[in-house]
Amino acid sequence: MRRRLAAALAASLLFAGTARAADAPPGAWSCTGCHALSSAPSVPPNPIPALTGRPAVEIAGIMREFKSRGRPATVMGRIALGFSDAEIDAIAEWLARQDH
Ligand code: HEC
Repeated sequence: MRRRLAAALAASLLFAGTARAADAPPGAWSCTGCHALSSAPSVPPNPIPALTGRPAVEIAGIMREFKSRGRPATVMGRIALGFSDAEIDAIAEWLARQDH
């Protein structure tokens, strides 16, 4: 009985994970290669700021600044150029909902 409950819990956790992954818009996972998917401090420390849990309008606004070269960047200017405004909004929306 207890084992069945544990299996059901594990299945629902797994399902929650895949649901989140499946609803990621095109390009969103590419951000997570550099930016952590959690605002918790990482070991070793990651000097690239985490984006998760930040408001979508803030993330999208900064991306537009990178795209127009209005914000200094090493890599983000080039990365932002690869996305349309609609794609940036969808990615920002998704990132804002992640924090795990
Ligand atoms: C190759 C690694 C890399 C990838 C991939 C990457 N970033 Fe970045 N990101 C950086 C670095 C490094 C910075 C600091 C600015 C710079 O030097 O370009 C940064 C800064 C940012 C910032 C500003 C954070 C702040 O608080 O100043 C935002 C927003 C951002 N990235 C969004 C994104 C999004 C959205 C994606 C995916 C489309 C993405 N990044 C993909 C490396 C990356």
